Amino acid sequence: MKDQFRSTFGVLVALAGSAVGLGNLWRFPYLVGTNGGAAFIIIYLLFVLVLCLPIMYSEILIGRRQSEGIKSIKLLSVISAFVVFSFYAVVGGWSLGYLIKAFSFSVVSTSSEVLEQVYNSSITAVWQPLINTFLFILATGAIIMFGISKGIERFSKVLMPILFIMVIIIAVRSLMLEGAGAGVRFLFQPDFSKVTGKTVLDALGQAFFSLSIGCGSLLTYGFYIQKRENIVKAASFSALSDVVFAIIAGLAIMPAVFAFGISPTEGPGLVFITLPHIFAQIAGGEIFAICFFITFFIAAITSSISILEVLVSYVIERFKISRLSAVIISSLSVSTIAIFASLSFGLLGDVKIFDKSIFTFLENLSANILIPIVGFMTVAYVGWRMKREEFEDEITSGGTIKFKRWILNAIYLIIKYIAPIVVAIILVAGLL
Ligand code: PHE
Repeated sequence: MKDQFRSTFGVLVALAGSAVGLGNLWRFPYLVGTNGGAAFIIIYLLFVLVLCLPIMYSEILIGRRQSEGIKSIKLLSVISAFVVFSFYAVVGGWSLGYLIKAFSFSVVSTSSEVLEQVYNSSITAVWQPLINTFLFILATGAIIMFGISKGIERFSKVLMPILFIMVIIIAVRSLMLEGAGAGVRFLFQPDFSKVTGKTVLDALGQAFFSLSIGCGSLLTYGFYIQKRENIVKAASFSALSDVVFAIIAGLAIMPAVFAFGISPTEGPGLVFITLPHIFAQIAGGEIFAICFFITFFIAAITSSISILEVLVSYVIERFKISRLSAVIISSLSVSTIAIFASLSFGLLGDVKIFDKSIFTFLENLSANILIPIVGFMTVAYVGWRMKREEFEDEITSGGTIKFKRWILNAIYLIIKYIAPIVVAIILVAGLL
């Protein structure tokens, strides 16, 4: 029998696990920081609600239906997943490195200089980050080796609830810091004068990335979702978890940023440099640090399994080989690129592609080009190539799930007209 997600809960946590990840804990806070705070969040939320939900339904739906016509979408998704995974694994490796440091009580300090130094030395060194990246890829592969129901589903069921509980605890503690109010205001009081074209681009890129759109993860998970499952519910649950988690992560990080006078525009190092500050100020901070970096690691791994699975599923189907061999081949091939991404913070710092470091190039290539293209192709396929009856058959699970007519019409309208146009405009604008 085909290996599939066994339960509805399993589908929900696996999808949410894919969505909630470094995108929320690492990327979201620094994008909010560099894009002026609350206004960015509002635009991001609008994108999620109006544009991204129907795109998510589309991607899952074509994955489940597996029509002949999606070959090129699949192939491009695999490329997109490959690129994303090659830099995701590097940050995943950092998270592992910090977790190990937290266990040896060596990340907590009150001095920004010390923390910046710890951060810089842990990402610019040659061997340690590389080893951590490999370990991270190995851990991802180890879960995937067990397959969908016994690997991805089982692990997500245990890890996702832990993840939410941990981040809530950290946010509550952070909000109790003196001076936390400034951080909260930064998150919730919009200043639209700071909004530029780049803000809108970043917000869309982040919405796609954070919801796991355009890398084949939803397409691949869709294939393993049973026909009776409600796609609309599952995707909406995932989006809701993602947004809620991002806000809680913001509430954990921004108060600390302001309370300790760090600039919120710090960039990719923000989380790593800021949070150990909180831990240094509070009783039992070392334990909090361990909790936080466990959270970070769990968030990263439940997403990375959904990215690597894209490659693994593809290799299994294409070359008809065992899951184990597919995991080994996929992990090894992605590791080769990850090596360059990791070294681009130190040894290969001078190598530039289009004026960007290798890491930033890979990140931009996926977020600004590959992911939107796959997103565009997905909605264009469902809107223009698939028959409306097929679309409704999938959405309603063969007529067993009832929707109000206007809801179906609205979803379809967005998929057919609004999403392709908006994504195309943003894609072109991003390239100019
Ligand atoms: N959504 C994940 C995150 O926020 C990243 C991801 C992107 C996962 C694309 C799967 C596909 O961390």
